Amino acid sequence: MCGILLRVSKEPIKKPLCIPQPIQTLQGCSDLSSEIWDTTDPDVIKSFLQQGEKLRPLSPQQVRKLNSLDELRDLTKQLAKVKNNVKLLQEVKEDQVRNIQDQIDDISREDEDNYDDKNHHHTDVNKHGSKNKEEKEDREDKEIESLIYKTSNRGPNYLNYTQFKIDDNYYFQSFSAILSLRQPFTKQPIFKDEFVLQFNGELYNSECLETNDTQYIIDLLHSKIKSNKDRKSAILNTLKELSGEWAIILVDLRECRVYFGRDPIGKRSLCYKVSYDSNRIKEGQQQQQQQQQQQQQQEEENEKEGIEIIISSNSGIGFLECKNEIYEYSLAHNSKGLISHKLKEVARPTFELPDERVVLAELKKQLRAATKIRQDSIHPLTHLPNESALAVLFSGGLDCTIVARLICELINNSNGHTSLDLLTVGFENPRTLQAADSGPDRKLAIKSWFHLCHMFPKLKINLVEINVDYQSWLSHKSRVKELMYPCNTEMDLSIAIAFYFASSILPDLTSAKCLANDNVSWEEFVNNQEKYTIKQEKYLSSAKVMFSGLGADELFAGYSRHEGIFNNINVDNISGDESNYIELAESLNYDIEIIHQRNLGRDDRVMSCWGKELRYPYLDEDFISWVISTIPPNMKFKYSFAKDKKGKNRLVPIRKYILRKLAEELGMSWVSQELKRAIQFGAKSAKLEIGQSKSKGTDSL
Ligand SMILES: *[C@@H]1O[C@H](CO)[C@@H](O)[C@H](O)[C@H]1NC(C)=O
Ligand SMILES: *[C@@H]1O[C@H](CO)[C@@H](O)[C@H](O)[C@H]1NC(C)=O
Ligand SMILES: *[C@@H]1O[C@H](CO)[C@@H](O)[C@H](O)[C@H]1NC(C)=O
Ligand SMILES: *[C@@H]1O[C@H](CO)[C@@H](O)[C@H](O)[C@H]1NC(C)=O
Repeated sequence: MCGILLRVSKEPIKKPLCIPQPIQTLQGCSDLSSEIWDTTDPDVIKSFLQQGEKLRPLSPQQVRKLNSLDELRDLTKQLAKVKNNVKLLQEVKEDQVRNIQDQIDDISREDEDNYDDKNHHHTDVNKHGSKNKEEKEDREDKEIESLIYKTSNRGPNYLNYTQFKIDDNYYFQSFSAILSLRQPFTKQPIFKDEFVLQFNGELYNSECLETNDTQYIIDLLHSKIKSNKDRKSAILNTLKELSGEWAIILVDLRECRVYFGRDPIGKRSLCYKVSYDSNRIKEGQQQQQQQQQQQQQQEEENEKEGIEIIISSNSGIGFLECKNEIYEYSLAHNSKGLISHKLKEVARPTFELPDERVVLAELKKQLRAATKIRQDSIHPLTHLPNESALAVLFSGGLDCTIVARLICELINNSNGHTSLDLLTVGFENPRTLQAADSGPDRKLAIKSWFHLCHMFPKLKINLVEINVDYQSWLSHKSRVKELMYPCNTEMDLSIAIAFYFASSILPDLTSAKCLANDNVSWEEFVNNQEKYTIKQEKYLSSAKVMFSGLGADELFAGYSRHEGIFNNINVDNISGDESNYIELAESLNYDIEIIHQRNLGRDDRVMSCWGKELRYPYLDEDFISWVISTIPPNMKFKYSFAKDKKGKNRLVPIRKYILRKLAEELGMSWVSQELKRAIQFGAKSAKLEIGQSKSKGTDSL
């Protein structure tokens, strides 16, 4: 995995100050003169990482809030009491409520975050005229440096900064940071056939399991150029063949175009910002300024011309997230702006009912294959045999427990590593003083972990518990907001911050458990947990790859909105439910189509900052196509009726039916009945903002 960054400008651009001197000059690289700096020196890299990890100090108001938690809790209790007091006169009550709420607000309010521009998608670079040029350049320097640091966090093994230009027209700055997981370790960017390639991803095409994937793309592109009618078709046809999780930036030096985008699901993050300049004047043209000004303003109205584009795994103010498509940005004629190309469509759903047992067997096989290919390709460079090479984001629920179970089986059958980390996160609740390890996810995680340990006594399965206190939450919050941008709702934050800490490497928050006795029964264990566990404080997971169960809810109908489609079912006559199932199938397809925007970009940005990468077995492209075209919606969502107390028929829904069957098939009946709980509720990261007036999850922060 890596972080990639490319900046292309029609004006000369300065080397960022954070790139150390000297920088080596290479001539003859495709007739380009390029300047390069790169390093594998851990000390140098460390200084970059530290810059990226820097947390903003708590503001005086935040400190005050932290010191007033007891008072806040008191006030919150008082408030509830007043509100529930039926004897109070309405007016008196309102008065008291207002009074207490004001006190609460005064303590719990937070200072405005500066990181909050919402609508400036396209910044006018030169809005304030050239007298502010220095100020503006200063701001741009800071922006690019901040992106460079964030990019470094994603790839802590190798950094490469390269700048080059085409004639005196186009100026390029590229920065790549690589986390090496595979041998041989490919350095970036790659120049070949007048292309410059930056690639962040993992490919599972069978041909490239033997070679490195960046090389594979370049070779494929090379062969496509010979067989396609033009360079653009060659590029798009190459990208269509890539199978895996990736984001890419590819510059075509010959035709002066930049192609960039994400895989057809959108598993890796990529963001961009185009800057437009209306009246920037090139050096040496100063005198003509007067005459030209009028004309230029005219042109500006007619045709805004992009003068600079920045594309990055991370984002900054004004950035937009790429869709699950490939964008084409032409440097020469940019009047059309960006053109986007869709590589693949989601498969068409089936409504034919196959035999359940056949489907189950095939489902197991397909999901196992998608998991195996993601596990096989991890060859960490430095790992001790007793360290875990991989981890699972683990709430203990259905989706991730199935993934964990399949991984255990694979490890159990191999001769390599025998250790696995299950990562579970919880948040302290400052309002109720509920401890971080007492949320519903934790209880479930312990149960599922215990049963997995029982199933696989040969393995060392660590339950890695990350317990986040309120102060840590407060300290890291602004970093998470910055990383997840342009996602910016309350709900985004509560989900993102849970994932951020789940993947963190913060020893003070982290401990690991393993089971001391494989023979103890669950009933015995659950009442004497301390006795039967070996606990290691300040544990740091060495796994660089994390598996996630994301995608199961989208593929198999796990959300309440899916269930909602069946609200209007007539309990006395269900023969009309075809239309509900058609709607469900459409809704599921849409969920897959949009998951890049709802989840994947955000989650990638907040988790990769720890130098770890995510893999999603359920979001394997072949697996998705197979599920959609083989499993009809009425094997995903099922319902029956039961009489309630009044003797009326009520709908009893079963979400993710076939996946629950799979869990049973895999010997995990303990989890097959589990209800769905969103991470922000399971880990209790939602609504940590204490005392604040109510806001909807979808409100912007
Ligand atoms: C990537 O793989 C190709 C093919 O195996 C090899 O020729 C090349 O040297 C590798 N690149 C690096 C940087 O190791
Ligand atoms: C860094 O990237 C440049 C291409 O931009 C390449 O020529 C150079 O070899 C890379 N550095 C290393 C050590 O691979
Ligand atoms: C784990 O591997 C052992 C052989 O080493 C095998 O006997 C056992 O059945 C395997 N367990 C599971 C659950 O697959
Ligand atoms: C049940 O619903 C179907 C379709 O909505 C309708 O054609 C049929 O007549 C209904 N049957 C009864 C018994 O109401």
